[in-house]
Amino acid sequence: MHFTRRLRASLLGLQPHLRNNGVALARDLPSFDGAGSDGAGLEPLFALRHVELARAGRPVLRDLTLDLPRRAITGIIGPSGAGKTSLIRLLNRLDDPAAGEITFLGQPLTEYDVRALRRRVAFVFQTAAMFEGTVADNLRVAAELGGKRAAAQAPEVASVLRAVGLDPEYGRREAGELSSGEQQRVSLGRALMTLPGVLLLDEPTSALDPETALHLLGTVARLAEEHGVSVIMVTHRLCEARQFTSHCVLLEEGRIVEAGSTRQLFSAASTERARAYLASGR
Ligand SMILES: Nc1ncnc2c1ncn2[C@@H]1O[C@H](COP(=O)(O)OP(=O)(O)OP(=O)(O)O)[C@@H](O)[C@H]1O
Ligand SMILES: [Mg+2]
Repeated sequence: MHFTRRLRASLLGLQPHLRNNGVALARDLPSFDGAGSDGAGLEPLFALRHVELARAGRPVLRDLTLDLPRRAITGIIGPSGAGKTSLIRLLNRLDDPAAGEITFLGQPLTEYDVRALRRRVAFVFQTAAMFEGTVADNLRVAAELGGKRAAAQAPEVASVLRAVGLDPEYGRREAGELSSGEQQRVSLGRALMTLPGVLLLDEPTSALDPETALHLLGTVARLAEEHGVSVIMVTHRLCEARQFTSHCVLLEEGRIVEAGSTRQLFSAASTERARAYLASGR
């Protein structure tokens, strides 16, 4: 209860240090109540068991068995076509597996109301389509889609714009006229307006210059660390995975090559294939 009040107060910009950082906060997950700060001993955020997915008759994900941790930034890495986007699309039911099971906080994903699930588990697409209207309209619409209660709790547009590295002046600009990197940041901003507990990010920095990318990932890291947002982030940039994630999954041809702590993976991968892939990014 106390946690919820603190979150809301911060979101409304009542805490100066947060306002200055422009950080938007998470809708806390009820099952975090009473959890230790690291969530130790609790069921994983997502658990995948023998998950299979096919596209156009071709297997895309094969027998994936994997736990994704709570309150962490997990990187999904691997070559183009490995199945990274396909994997995270399953987690808020943009697609459903052909076989196997996925649970979210211990409960089968299929038992959640899809709309309610998507408010808690937000997906930020690699290529963002803007709604018609201004950037502020885009952010407000995103909050309204979550329902009246969510809209009432939504953070200030200006604080979200600052969080994603855009001057609040951008609120007045036509969203369709922004550069693709600016649109990508508005897209993350739209997700933040709904105060998700989980962020699924598909290459969130692919259209950004290195400095802006760093700023954006800094925001994501703050959300994860200070407010318990769980993040699952697809990235091609191994340096980003190394710097910003605590866990990593390396996929290739729809299979897990290796999964575990980022430090372990980057310093002492146990498979030759993982070592070769990680070396390619140095
Ligand atoms: N809608 C679709 N129809 C047919 N095949 C698809 C579809 N979407 C994805 N695939 C195929 O599934 C495989 C995995 O695609 P996915 O988009 O998950 O890869 P990825 O790892 O995200 O790649 P990238 O790094 O290029 O984004 C690819 O072989 C792709 O061609
Ligand atoms: Mg992809």
